[in-house]
Amino acid sequence: MRCFLPLDKLSQEPYSTIIGYPKATKKQIKTRIVELKKLGIRDVSFQGQTKIGSLNILGKGYVGVVVLSRIKNRLVAVKIRRTDASRTNMAKEAKFLKIANKAGVGPLLLAMSKNFIIMEYLDGKKIGEWVNELKSKRDIKLLKSIMQKILEDCYSLDVIGLDHGELSTISKHVVIEKSKTTIIDYESASTQRRVSNVTSATQAICIGSGISKIVRKIYRMPSKNKIIKILRSYKQEQNRQNFEKILEILKL
Ligand SMILES: Nc1ncnc2c1ncn2[C@@H]1O[C@H](COP(=O)(O)OP(=O)(O)OP(=O)(O)O)[C@@H](O)[C@H]1O
Ligand SMILES: [Mg+2]
Repeated sequence: MRCFLPLDKLSQEPYSTIIGYPKATKKQIKTRIVELKKLGIRDVSFQGQTKIGSLNILGKGYVGVVVLSRIKNRLVAVKIRRTDASRTNMAKEAKFLKIANKAGVGPLLLAMSKNFIIMEYLDGKKIGEWVNELKSKRDIKLLKSIMQKILEDCYSLDVIGLDHGELSTISKHVVIEKSKTTIIDYESASTQRRVSNVTSATQAICIGSGISKIVRKIYRMPSKNKIIKILRSYKQEQNRQNFEKILEILKL
């Protein structure tokens, strides 16, 4: 059973520390509760893999803390702007998430305000943890289909000209739920930069120092040089044909 705590309780400790993390005035907390109400949030559930003090939440980063909530009967994730975040509102991140959604990528943006982003709740694991659970060669098929899905999303972002900006550290930016993959966290995204979603993600999954070590143990990939070469031609001309050459060389 999930336990939901009504909004008016959030003004009290220890809950107030979460909605005004790491530190907020009583007035800030009050404003935030009003903001949540306007967004259609009635209650919050403290559960998830991350802990702040005695409370469980879905996750925590430098910009936000993320908690589980619901709108009507739909579970949602609420990204709460940290009071010490380097940005004064969530507008830019919401804007980029909306652009990603147009390309069918990212958790669905449901609502936003100055201090909150309400989005589709992803009941999964970050790819950095997920790969650790791959056991044997029997998991090759699943791993390959996950890789292909991630790269297809990256390609969709490349096509619309939205650069995610943090896919070189892919381990915390893709959530995997059964066979569904979702690229999260658009706070560093840009439509002004040259896009490098496909190349950054491929590097991180197949060449880099983190998860690629595990991926390479599970299935034989072409040499790093070969992958780099094919990425280079994609970089020079970002089209479907060159993208498919990447999939092909990775045997996806
Ligand atoms: N839609 C979601 N559903 C479930 N959990 C989520 C969702 N979005 C984010 N999370 C969790 O919350 C964590 C923090 O979210 P996010 O990465 O967006 O915050 P951030 O402050 O920008 O982080 P960072 O400082 O690492 O960039 C994620 O790592 C993930 O565990
Ligand atoms: Mg972030």
